[in-house]
Amino acid sequence: MRLILAPMEGLADESMRDLLTRLGGFDLCVAEFLRVTHHLLTEKFVLRTVPELANGGRTRAGVPVRVQLLGSDPVCLAENAAHIAGLGAPGIDLNFGCPAPMVNRHGGGAALLVEPERIHAIVAAVRRAVPQSVPVTAKMRLGLENTELTLDCARAVEAGGASELTVHARTGADRYRPPARWEWLARIREEVKLPLVANGDVWTPQDWERIRRVSGCADVMTGRGAITRPDLARRIKTGATAMTWPELLPWVVDFYALLRARMDLRHAPGRLKQWLGMLGSAYPEAETLHRALRVERDPDAVEKMLEGR
Ligand SMILES: Cc1cc2nc3c(=O)[nH]c(=O)nc-3n(C[C@H](O)[C@H](O)[C@H](O)COP(=O)(O)O)c2cc1C
Repeated sequence: MRLILAPMEGLADESMRDLLTRLGGFDLCVAEFLRVTHHLLTEKFVLRTVPELANGGRTRAGVPVRVQLLGSDPVCLAENAAHIAGLGAPGIDLNFGCPAPMVNRHGGGAALLVEPERIHAIVAAVRRAVPQSVPVTAKMRLGLENTELTLDCARAVEAGGASELTVHARTGADRYRPPARWEWLARIREEVKLPLVANGDVWTPQDWERIRRVSGCADVMTGRGAITRPDLARRIKTGATAMTWPELLPWVVDFYALLRARMDLRHAPGRLKQWLGMLGSAYPEAETLHRALRVERDPDAVEKMLEGR
């Protein structure tokens, strides 16, 4: 029974992965996608998105971070995957789920869900290129516009040699409209034998219990739920009660210190405010702080306001 932190570009970056894995409960992270086009990504670029590679591919808390690639060309993806495995990635994940029009226009992400043959070619090429000791996994949505090819895509991932498949139980056209269609996960499990990871709309420990029951999957990936309730994974794993705001506040201060140390200082206040805005749905105090900081851009003034709480 594993809990996996979802890749989320702009939300679950290195600082957030660091924080959430120290809070506890996660067994594995997948980093936000690296887009692969026609050249080899430089080591510097890869390390900027996945700095954990300089730490044996693990967060400070020791949780492995898989590297996710997004692209449509099997050869380029395979070459980049081999290169990144050589940098010490503990796993390579392939993105067949991103619904962003910019990404789809270039044939990557969810656009591939209408081409199971290409999915097969990509997975097989990457699997061949990467040492057997490094898992190659995939993450997909149910389809691009509909569910006509869901099972074909899942079979293509399995036949290509992936060792695990995560399914976000929505189509690209569904975007993020609730509810996620968990019942589809059970249908996919009937078709493929590779381990399936259930994903979509797990916001509470009760959701976690329900998605496991409905899907039959042992392993669950959660994304936005872990950002809005940072103790979600810990509560699922230990049955602990929910953290109060006074308990969470030192972690928020800690997060801001991480941002200040690791990112362009000018962007640190905006990134903190983004998180406070999301925390606001679970913690009214975060919403109040979010409002108080809304117009403040000076990184030092933001720190003073945080510490004054
Ligand atoms: C802001 C944002 C960025 C995302 N970036 C990625 C990404 O880089 N790669 C990916 O496979 N999925 C990405 N996703 C999708 C999530 O990994 C996940 O499948 C989706 O949010 C559903 O899970 P949740 O309901 O637990 O959030 C992103 C989602 C959000 C909200």
